[in-house]
Amino acid sequence: MRRHGFARDALIETLHTVQESFGCLDKESLNFVAASLRVPLSHAYGVATFYHFFTMKPPGAHTCLICMGTACYIKGAGNLLNEAEAQLQIKAGETTADRQASLITARCIGSCSVAPAVVLDGEMVGNMDGVLLRRKMEGWKSS
Ligand code: FES
Repeated sequence: MRRHGFARDALIETLHTVQESFGCLDKESLNFVAASLRVPLSHAYGVATFYHFFTMKPPGAHTCLICMGTACYIKGAGNLLNEAEAQLQIKAGETTADRQASLITARCIGSCSVAPAVVLDGEMVGNMDGVLLRRKMEGWKSS
């Protein structure tokens, strides 16, 4: 916020930074950001809930993001999502009950040339297949 002179139009970038730092946006951080940037709390809350990227729930210890953009979808992202949902026993957007793994989807992560692409614990992996995905997520869930 200081870098942008506490400008109101730095709201989205600020929320990105908060989420990167703490894993999610909570009531306390939204209050702090809204007050610091002098925007109504309802506006900060609206932005945080409108954009798919932002989450108000703490993520699991591990995260699997599957790109469902057009290039990835054509190359089998739907099957990868089915595979991940079966292995983790959750649906996209959910976190396992033991809080060990979260499964999320995105529209395009900018790696179309290596579709289908996934991001596992922050590391992009291209040309993913079901066997490799299963192997990479082994041990993510306690039961
Ligand atoms: S569509 Fe998946 S990286 Fe672009």
